[in-house]
Amino acid sequence: MEIRNSQWITISRSIGDIAPVFRRAFETEKSIEKATLEMTALGTYEAEINGKRVGDYILAPGWTSYDHRLQVQAYDVTDLLQTENALHVTVGRGWFRSPMPGWMDTEDKKRRYHQPCGLIARLTIDYADGRKTVIGTDESWSWAESPVRFSEIYDGEHYDAGIRPSDWQPVSLLDWPKHILIPQEGEIVRETERVTAKRVFRTPKGETVVDFGQEVTGYVEFTVNAKAGDSVSFIHGEMLDADGNFYNANYRSAKALVKYSCREGTQTWHPRLTFFGFRYVKLLSWPNHPKPEDFTAIAVHSDMKRTGRLQSGNAELNRLFSNILWGQRCNFLDVPTDCPQRDERLGWTGDAQVFVKTASYFFDVERFFRKWLHDLKADQRPSGEVGQIIPDVIPDGDSSAAWGDAATICPWQIYQTYGDLSVLKDQFDSMKKWVNYITSVTKTPNLWTDHFHFGDWLGLDAPSGSYKGSTREDFIASAFYARSTELVVKAGKLLGEDVSAYESLYKRIITAFRCAFPEYKTQTEHVLAAHFSLSDDPQKTADALAEIIRKDGVRLRTGFVGTPYILHVLSNYGHADLAWSLVLRREYPGWLFPVTKGATTAWEHWDGIREDGSFWSTDMNSFNHYAYGSVADWIFEQGAGIRHAENKPGFTEVIYNPHPDERLGWLDARLETRNGTISAFWACENDGVRYELTTPVQATVVLDNIKKIVEPGQYTFWTEKG
Ligand code: BGC
Repeated sequence: MEIRNSQWITISRSIGDIAPVFRRAFETEKSIEKATLEMTALGTYEAEINGKRVGDYILAPGWTSYDHRLQVQAYDVTDLLQTENALHVTVGRGWFRSPMPGWMDTEDKKRRYHQPCGLIARLTIDYADGRKTVIGTDESWSWAESPVRFSEIYDGEHYDAGIRPSDWQPVSLLDWPKHILIPQEGEIVRETERVTAKRVFRTPKGETVVDFGQEVTGYVEFTVNAKAGDSVSFIHGEMLDADGNFYNANYRSAKALVKYSCREGTQTWHPRLTFFGFRYVKLLSWPNHPKPEDFTAIAVHSDMKRTGRLQSGNAELNRLFSNILWGQRCNFLDVPTDCPQRDERLGWTGDAQVFVKTASYFFDVERFFRKWLHDLKADQRPSGEVGQIIPDVIPDGDSSAAWGDAATICPWQIYQTYGDLSVLKDQFDSMKKWVNYITSVTKTPNLWTDHFHFGDWLGLDAPSGSYKGSTREDFIASAFYARSTELVVKAGKLLGEDVSAYESLYKRIITAFRCAFPEYKTQTEHVLAAHFSLSDDPQKTADALAEIIRKDGVRLRTGFVGTPYILHVLSNYGHADLAWSLVLRREYPGWLFPVTKGATTAWEHWDGIREDGSFWSTDMNSFNHYAYGSVADWIFEQGAGIRHAENKPGFTEVIYNPHPDERLGWLDARLETRNGTISAFWACENDGVRYELTTPVQATVVLDNIKKIVEPGQYTFWTEKG
């Protein structure tokens, strides 16, 4: 990469939290054919040429495992150049230098916080007559304090519009590795939607609050007519409390504060180097009378192509679909994060693993996940251990079953949805290393025992005071050990690798598992035993699961581990009606309960807001957590009935096996696959069910237990009642 011929530059004295702006003036001759600016920074940056923003990439250079990989963006800036030019680049702390994670004090966090700010760039100007000029970062650049007085991931951004950078000083050269520079790999992060404020109102406490009607991740743009030095400031929140007052105690230590000092006149501004997850903002100061039209929430995320659509005859279910979509949009900002608001916003591996299938149906996430998986591989420890978070900002944290298994499950799912074997090729060593790690640390051969785990995180059968459900941790760990080993075997065979050692390991795990766990105690234990084929009689296990659920009052007791699979187990073994009962349940715990409470994204807890309007707790209560949104993959595959045939990844061949239910009347699903768009519709009518299927590939239609193979085309089928 030629940018490596440029120098890393930095500021020549410490300016604390103020974001520096780097500058280079240059002249050009008229007949430019093409001008390309490549750049990246240690921190998030925004570049301008002659006062115009360079490109539409927000929060560049994105978030990677910075010790190993730093993406370089390339912009076509031909149209921005004049004869005399000034290039300015403002660099904030971004993910690179923010103290993440917020709630922990670690040496590594301190180290990152004190890392230097840096910039490296290369502008190549090709003239029409064949000449070429290259301007790289070097000692000819200068820097000054920018109007951004503070910018950080959790605490927000402060801007002084009265400041014009002056007192330009020569930059210092920075000794920073260049081998970490890589071309842009992930999707570009962009502004994708503008959500206008729905209302500005006074709460019972007398606070002035702006409501956007939808939780978004991004920032608020505002327009204000002010006097120089007037102040605008606000904090972000997701919810109002039971009395209708602004609430953001669940952001924990994240201040999520915007402070803006005005210049004279009418001005429009939004933060540029950080982001927030919010539906409301509480105005702390505003120069005059605020009106809804003064505020717009701008949604920012990886600009993935939308591929999946779901619509049904049940309005609340449709709101759930919308909430899941928004949950994905809000948490796919370059890295799959747990939540976008509190002092986390981290690439929790378990959450990503749980949601990857749904994510891959709603949007084309191949590029997004491939980049993140490369970070996983880069951060994987020499022992093969995969941390809790990728990029790994808790490098001393223990791995956990169902979290570290993102190393096998995510590449496998990306291959299943899109059919490109190269993701498995890229990740195969990492997949094996994860399984080898388990083999090397377990205290009991062929099982995974006696290790730290998150268990069935947030399982509703958790003992009082614990976040971990009652499912035995060794059970979960051994089940996922089996699953990951199975995936290594499957991937290895496709890649033509010798996986005989893993095949026999897999067989030994199954035998040991059956011996160690002859009985299943919790819902999640039944789910895993049936779903991962650990039970020698999955039908019996699924029937037992259905019985327990009924005994539990048709209520889920599962957490992060059991919930994504529970509906699949039920419908795969003849209990689709019960699966729908769980999906359509409006009472706590149920997917529609948050909808009845006004949710606009998926919640971390089924009862983030309880029946009586009180909050679950402040220490762990995100209203924008996508994990339970994983129900949508069941809606596509089992509810609507579209899935790819076994061994036909990328939907080169389809199974159509819908599970209609009168309670929602009709269901319409569309899935744009690499092999064309599949649409599947059913409607319950007086005397039976009408189905409409459009398939671009051969499909096996399974209706009323009768299988029929159809060629690509449009079909209508009927089944009669009873
Ligand atoms: C996160 C989760 C994550 C978990 C680990 C939480 O704080 O928000 O979603 O997976 O920690 O158990």
